[in-house]
Amino acid sequence: MVRFDTGCPCCNREYYDYEEWLMSGVTVVGHPLVQHKLTLMRETTCSTKSFRQLVNEVGTLLCYEVTRDLPLEKRTIQTPLAEMQAPVIAGKKLVFAPILRAGVGFLDGMLDLVPSARVAHIGLYRDPVTLEAVKYYFKAPADVADRLVILMDPMLATGHSAVAAVKLLKESGARDIRFVCLLAAPEGIEELRCAHPDVKVWTAAIDSHLNDHGYIVPGLGDAGDRMFGTK
Ligand code: URA
Repeated sequence: MVRFDTGCPCCNREYYDYEEWLMSGVTVVGHPLVQHKLTLMRETTCSTKSFRQLVNEVGTLLCYEVTRDLPLEKRTIQTPLAEMQAPVIAGKKLVFAPILRAGVGFLDGMLDLVPSARVAHIGLYRDPVTLEAVKYYFKAPADVADRLVILMDPMLATGHSAVAAVKLLKESGARDIRFVCLLAAPEGIEELRCAHPDVKVWTAAIDSHLNDHGYIVPGLGDAGDRMFGTK
């Protein structure tokens, strides 16, 4: 993890323990099924078919974790034997927002759990030279302001795409956003947390660092290419 003696270098915010603040917004999902599937995906021998299937399955498991604290309310229902007060999810409904294209890998797995969720699509590509995120498509539901948005991208690397995606969502009205990924680099966590401190992160692992090309090390390579067989 990146360490600083004083405040955040990108926003000059001062914290007693900066690293503790950064990580207070990050949940590492250590569930054995998630960890096992992630290991299978990391291996170079994992086929495109298996990789795509595993991303889908981990999407379901991460969806379970990111929705763990959704508030419940009681509803009066009638069972075959009696009337009872039973819990249902209260308030805001969900929007799943994959960052194209790799984020799409999580989508079906998440929709399996929450079939009524709306979907926003965010098209960003990474400029190969500057590594900055460039928008080519954005479409979100009109009532995104009233919903919890689960933003998803398997790799939180430089954090540029995640920061840009959150900005686009906020500009369209979203006020409650969570970010889900498979792997995070310390650099990406710092970038996202500093730019959008209100956005919490769920990840299956935090890897060592980024290489000179902005890839996560040890990582799993290019998630989009491995998922869609484009390399
Ligand atoms: N995107 C990927 O697909 N892999 C990385 O390691 C970093 C960004």
